[in-house]
Parts: sequence; C-alpha cells; structure tokens
Amino acid sequence: MDAKFQRRVQRYGWDAAASQYEPGWAPRLRAAQDRLLSVAGLAQGMQVLETACGSGLVTARIAEMVGQSGAVMATDLSQAMVDATTRMAAARGLAHVAAQRMDAEELDLPDAAFDSALCALGLMYVPDPARALAEMARVTRPGGRVAVTVWGERKHCGWAEIFPIVDARVASEVCPMFFGPGGRGVLLHIAGAAGLTGAKEWRDRVTLDWPDAASLLLAMIGGGPVALAAKRFSPNVRAEVEAEFLASVAGFSKPDGSYAIPGEFVTVAGTI
Ligand SMILES: C[S@@+](CC[C@H](N)C(=O)[O-])C[C@H]1O[C@@H](n2cnc3c(N)ncnc32)[C@H](O)[C@@H]1O
Repeated sequence: MDAKFQRRVQRYGWDAAASQYEPGWAPRLRAAQDRLLSVAGLAQGMQVLETACGSGLVTARIAEMVGQSGAVMATDLSQAMVDATTRMAAARGLAHVAAQRMDAEELDLPDAAFDSALCALGLMYVPDPARALAEMARVTRPGGRVAVTVWGERKHCGWAEIFPIVDARVASEVCPMFFGPGGRGVLLHIAGAAGLTGAKEWRDRVTLDWPDAASLLLAMIGGGPVALAAKRFSPNVRAEVEAEFLASVAGFSKPDGSYAIPGEFVTVAGTI
C-alpha cells in the first residue's frame, strides 16, 4: 500500500475510533503498558516524548512518573486522539503534559531534546516502523532510553482474523503490516539500526477478557484500526462482518457468553 494512503487511513481511522477506544481496549492493554513503563528508565524531572499517544492512557502514567518537575510531549497522527489527550491532561491537572499532532516518522522536534522516548502499540500502524524508531532515537539525548511495545506474532493473537474479514469487504488492506514489527527479532533489529545499544526484548503472552460479544465487537470494529472501513459498511455488511468475526473467536468464548482471547505483546528498550 502507498505510504501516503496508509497514513490517511490511519489518521482518519483513529479519528473515527477515538471515542470508543478506551471503553473497548483500556483494561486489555494494561499489561503491555506496564511492561513498557517498567523498562523505559523514567524518573522524576525527566523530559519525555511519547509517539502515537492515542487518548493518553500511557501519557497520564508517564506524567505521574516524571512529576511536575518533568514534562511530557505526547504526539499522535490523529487530531481526535490529540484532543482526547489534551482533555485528559486538563481534567487531571497535568499542566506538564502537552499534546500535538505529529507523524511518528517525521517528528517536528530538535535532536537530543528528551531524556526518554516511548511508544505504546503504535508502530504496527506506521508505514516505516524503522524510520519512526530512528526518529525517537534522534530526539533522545545520548545516554537516554528509547522503549517501544507492539503486538506480537499473529499466531499468538486470537483476534487476528478481524483484518482479513474486513479487508475482504474493502478495496485495500486496512493494516497491511500489522504483525510485521512483532515478528521474531524484527524490533530488536530496527532498534539496532536506530543506534540503540544494549537493547533487550520482552515477549509477554496475555489473555484479553471481554464480558460479552457486544463489548468485544465494540473494541474490534468501532474502537480500533478498522473503524474507518466499518463506518462505510451497510447494515447488512456490518452484520456479516460481526458474525464472521465472532465465528473466528468462537473457540475462546465461555459458557457465560464472555471471551478470553490470547494475545502477545513485544517490548524492546535500549539506550542511545
Ligand atoms: C492502538 S492506539 C495506541 C494508543 C496509546 N499509545 C495506547 O497505548 O493506548 C494507536 C495510535 O497510533 C496512532 N498512529 C497511527 N499511525 C501513526 C503515525 N504514523 N504517527 C503517529 N501516530 C500514529 C493512532 O492515531 C492511534 O492513536
């Protein structure tokens, strides 16, 4: 897929998903975000960059860890996500958080301006993840830490059929490279190419719980990367997509109607 087109699909897709992202996903991503925050070397007073910040779930936690003597610059391609982060910071009185719309591959920020740079679950959507990681490295000062988390291997993510099921109804692939960065050794390789030293990888297998089919569909269709495509579905096509997706995860349903779906997260962190 043409990179410019992919960026547009992502930008407006996440604009469409922004209001349903947290209800659909927030508790299910906690383990990934915990891992990322535990290896990013954050401390009070640090200046931190976050790319692909989404609605600010991780931003809020970084802000707490660096305290009012530090600062967080949160960036995302989607204006609706940037606005959500700005509202979150205002509501929590986090005056040391600033949010700005910015492409992770082209950060409009000076070299070596931050003590640390983080990205949670964003690099799967970027046309060139290596370039985004190199940008994070560029804006981090020598000795600073860069840490990223992505979804892991397709075979360990039980919900993965959502992509081919939606792709079959639209003219192009919604997320052509989704499982690319989480492949074995891929993140470590691009971290090395970006100049990170001592980089280490953590692969965390998790179970993602949803109480019922409606909440699962809200996350998968309205609150995630296929939201833009789904907005254009007729009611019939939407019903077909929902039925096919639920059939694809039927093996993970429980007698009470809830779902326990496997997932994998991969985190890599290193020093500049
Ligand atoms: C799954 S959300 C993750 C949000 C947040 N980091 C979290 O952990 O909750 C993915 C985010 O990546 C952003 N994104 C996609 N492509 C991007 C790009 N090229 N540059 C910056 N952000 C991008 C989307 O707008 C979306 O907010």
